[in-house]
Formats: sequence, C-alpha cells, structure tokens
Amino acid sequence: MEASIANAVEPGDIVLVGANGLWGERVGDLAERYGGDVRLIHAPAGTVFSVAQLEAAFDANPGAKVLFLTHGESSTGTLQPLDGVGALCRRHGALFILDTVCSLGGVPLQLDVSGVDVTYSGSQKCLGAPPGSAPFSMSQRARDKLAARKTKVASYYFDANLFGANWGEWWLICFAFARPRAAVLTPARPQALTASLVGITTRVLSIQCTSCARRWRFWPKKASRQLGSATPMPPRCCTRAWNAWV
Ligand SMILES: Cc1ncc(COP(=O)(O)O)c(C=O)c1O
Repeated sequence: MEASIANAVEPGDIVLVGANGLWGERVGDLAERYGGDVRLIHAPAGTVFSVAQLEAAFDANPGAKVLFLTHGESSTGTLQPLDGVGALCRRHGALFILDTVCSLGGVPLQLDVSGVDVTYSGSQKCLGAPPGSAPFSMSQRARDKLAARKTKVASYYFDANLFGANWGEWWLICFAFARPRAAVLTPARPQALTASLVGITTRVLSIQCTSCARRWRFWPKKASRQLGSATPMPPRCCTRAWNAWV
C-alpha cells in the first residue's frame, strides 16, 4: 500500500481517492503524508463508484495526477467494477492505482485490460500464503512517471527505482535487493499462486453466479443496515473473495 503511494505520488500531485470504506480513507491519509494534495471522493459504504462519478471528480479537480480505488473493499464486501476506469485515467493523464489486497487470486483480474497502472496485494489474503510479502506491479506509464520524477521517492525501502532494472510486471517487495526476506515464505508462494490460478480458472468462475445470488439475497437484510447503505449492490459489484459472519 505504502509503496504504491510512495512511487506514484510526487509532492504537490492532486490525488483523487475513492473513499467508500476503510481502505480509501487510509490511503488518503498515506498520500497526504507523501505530499499529495488529496481529494477524497466519498461514496456510501457498501456502494461502488460509477465511471460517471469518477469523471465528475476529474472535472471538479482539474490536473489530478492519480486516481486510487479499492478493488475488493474488505470492510464492506464490494467489488469495484473496473470497466472504463483505466481509459478515463488515460484521458485525464492520471495514473490508476488499485488496491487488490482482497481480490488478487480470488476474482479474475486483468491489469493491462483494465488499465491499472499500479497495484499491490498481500500474500495472506486470497493467495492463502503466509503473511509477510506483497505482490506489487507497475505499468510502463507508472515507471515512466517514476523515471521522470523531480524528487526522490521519500521512502528508501519502497523506492521502486532501487528494485533493479530487470524487474518484470510483478515484483514481490520483500525480494528486492538488500531487503532481507523471511526464508519460510519462499516455498509457500509458488504453491499459493498455483492454487489461486487453478481456483480462479475453474472453481471460482463456476460458482460465480450462485455465490453472488446468495450475497444478493442475504446482504441487504443484515449488513447493509449497519453500513447505512440503503441500496443493495447488484451481484457484479459484490466480491466473491470475502467471507464474514454478520
Ligand atoms: C482491501 C485491503 N487493503 C489493504 C489491506 C492492508 O493489508 P496489510 O495488512 O497486508 O497491509 C487490507 C487488509 O486487511 C485490505 O483488506
């Protein structure tokens, strides 16, 4: 989470942050600490953002350099639809940062197709590996911005320039040079990735409809009252990578 902001936000950048749950609020705070001029885009907890809402936020904040959204919002169970968001960011010359901590490995995710420029996740959520490492990805646009920065990345440990020139599309942050890693994590990661890939391509897709339908039926009765969300989300906006007792 911190690495994405540290690398993609330069002091003074206008940063639009979708706040429809816990994680947007937190990233807003984080981006401010890195010198971002944060503009929170509020939506009720338990709802997701439409492209029209995001377009209006860009119009109201000309020159915005970054848009942040949470894909799987674990505090409410929503799944942010990504259609059109990457294209919107490109039209406005902004980078698109997406929190995939609670979605990577649990729901289909195509970063390039969706135009996601920076994403981070966690080994301990849908991937089911031990905690302690964070898959992290930057698009070429994000890396171009990084290379053209006028200021150094404020965090030494999270400076992607120091990750090395040969990193691929994905990087496990704790693998970076000079960053010691917990050896116990190493065998768990490939196992977890393989299991997630198999799960996504077979099991998850086949249970998609029933899972969403179940959430659709039960969600409004209990949780949405507490969340203050009057309108239940349609199934495509509920994450399947989320379980809770309510
Ligand atoms: C959506 C989301 N983003 C970010 C985080 C933070 O992840 P971590 O605790 O690995 O820093 C969490 C943790 O629950 C999360 O659910």
